[in-house]
Amino acid sequence: MDTRDPLAHFRGRFCLPKTRSGDECIYLCGHSLGLQPKTASSYLEQELRDWDNLGVEGHFHAKNPWMPYHRLLTQQTAALVGALPAEVVVMNSLTVNLHLMMVSFYRPTTERHKILVERGAFPSDQYAVNSQIRFHGFDPVSSLIELTPRKGEAFMRDEDIESLIEREGDSIALILLGGVNYGTGQAFDMAGITRAGQRKGCVVGFDLAHAAGNIPLRLHDWGPDFAVWCSYKYLNGGPGCVGGCFVHERHARAWDMPRFAGWWGHEEKIRFQMGPDFRPMVGAEGWQLSNPPILALAPLRASMEIFSEAGMERLRAKSGSLTGYMEFLLDQQASPKFSVITPREPERRGAQLSIRLRSEGRILCDRMAAQGVIGDWREPDTFRVAAVPLYNSYQDVYRFVQRFSTALS
Ligand SMILES: Cc1ncc(COP(=O)(O)O)c(C=O)c1O
Repeated sequence: MDTRDPLAHFRGRFCLPKTRSGDECIYLCGHSLGLQPKTASSYLEQELRDWDNLGVEGHFHAKNPWMPYHRLLTQQTAALVGALPAEVVVMNSLTVNLHLMMVSFYRPTTERHKILVERGAFPSDQYAVNSQIRFHGFDPVSSLIELTPRKGEAFMRDEDIESLIEREGDSIALILLGGVNYGTGQAFDMAGITRAGQRKGCVVGFDLAHAAGNIPLRLHDWGPDFAVWCSYKYLNGGPGCVGGCFVHERHARAWDMPRFAGWWGHEEKIRFQMGPDFRPMVGAEGWQLSNPPILALAPLRASMEIFSEAGMERLRAKSGSLTGYMEFLLDQQASPKFSVITPREPERRGAQLSIRLRSEGRILCDRMAAQGVIGDWREPDTFRVAAVPLYNSYQDVYRFVQRFSTALS
């Protein structure tokens, strides 16, 4: 399979971590932190050099002028998430963007004040949502609804999500779900959820931290109101890299919507007149606050170039095959000591498989790391691994399952 893989050469474009003895690690942690593109340093050095040579003049005269620098990412980002260019902006980090979006899109009233989230949503999302509910004078006890799998099941059924929205929709102000759940790896039916939510008059937003660069997205057509994501997982932008934000075209000129403002969201043509009145830019850029961190954007450009070259369609095809292969090998190891809790249907997951371990999982995970197998552990019982189509091989998957099986026994 590796010999026949049309994307195999992309592995050579990334820095693979090494074990103490100098061998390449089996790196299965792209769902947490993607690997460094080998070209990242040259993109970064260019900006450091321009800063060195030009100082403030770099804003206009750098090789890639810093004033419009973030726009170098717009086309590729829009293509990646299936949006129009004006619907996306690369800015801030995920939780910051989530708050900015909720400031605009979570407008609770006494009749409609609830937020629907998935149980076990990423803690930062839970904190953000709870704090927004309290900020508006409501109480999470009565204003938060959590989607919960049926007893004995690990992930949500689509029909249960739809029927909950149908039942409770009139009191729901905002539906906020992960595109792919960070714990189980379940990919949600974002088109169906958006349709169901909008039928009931709810605002719909998605946290795409585990979806962007992992599964194909068609945000414009699906029609959620907003989405946010980070760029350090499948997008390989580097630790703490700048995140992304989508605001649907229908809100591009929503001047009366409340929003927290900053000068970079102000109409660009008159930004430097330094006037006191805020006039937001059209589209997602109107939610920007600060001038962009060029040194953090540079490595992301390196990575997005590679992404565009590989193409999401080909990446998804390989991803399905790699993950399917991992599942097949794990099935052959069938043991009461573990179970895979990620959905089995390829269209209901991305690259990640979540392995629930009955006991001593943490020790097993550490044992694997000592042998150069890098996945990660999520309390209380889950070992997460992702074979990432840009840089993982079928051989990685084979070796991983061999070592997993040895470590288990
Ligand atoms: C699903 C999800 N939401 C939110 C976050 C927090 O992101 P940030 O630290 O960029 O705000 C993460 C980080 O891993 C995440 O996986």
